[in-house]
Amino acid sequence: MIVVIDGPAGSGKSSTARAVAGKLQIQFLDSGALYRVATLVYLDTEKDYHAFFEKFNKSKISFHFKNERFHVYLNDEDVTDAIREMEVSEHVSEVASNPKIRREVNDLMREVVKHDIYIADGRDLGTAVFPDAELKFFMNADLDTRAQRRYRELKQEGQDVSLEEIKENLAQRDEMDSNRAADPLKKAEDAIEIDTSACSFEEQVSIICEKISKRIN
Ligand code: DC
Repeated sequence: MIVVIDGPAGSGKSSTARAVAGKLQIQFLDSGALYRVATLVYLDTEKDYHAFFEKFNKSKISFHFKNERFHVYLNDEDVTDAIREMEVSEHVSEVASNPKIRREVNDLMREVVKHDIYIADGRDLGTAVFPDAELKFFMNADLDTRAQRRYRELKQEGQDVSLEEIKENLAQRDEMDSNRAADPLKKAEDAIEIDTSACSFEEQVSIICEKISKRIN
């Protein structure tokens, strides 16, 4: 069974999905993290797509959800923190706009979710990757709220970033993610919309938990 949450960067979908997964004891899949791993490989191959694909196809990507954290490994090396670096955030939308990379990431996700109950977050999960998902949510919030949230998160992780640069990065990614040709960020027609500027974190989590619990039972 798969439940999806789509929405723009910083809308709170990932932290909400993590909390829901923790509460309901189901699995969490962070699809953006997979594009971020691909971006690490892209940066490592000096942004050369030919070298990138050669290396990416030989790479082993693995992940697991533990203690409300999505841990990611590239060739068995823990890259959970590395994928959140600003340099990765600056290039990830470009990498994610490549249809060939999207196909590979989508195949990986579709295979994984066959084996358990998952809640996954992303941009195109309800529209392109899992159009038949049992439940779909679309989370949104205004740009200022999203920038403040992301700023607090990164500061807590000890990253040296400014609110302005985060706001600019989110605005740029919104633009690229929503306007790319391949599977852009879009609300699925049958998705339940949640504006997270208007409700508390606990409310978001409980709305989603309630709907999933009803479906499971
Ligand atoms: O959720 P995030 O901010 O970590 O995602 C990083 C980037 O990955 C985001 O800017 C767009 C891309 N992405 C995507 O294109 N499709 C998804 N399903 C998830 C993320």
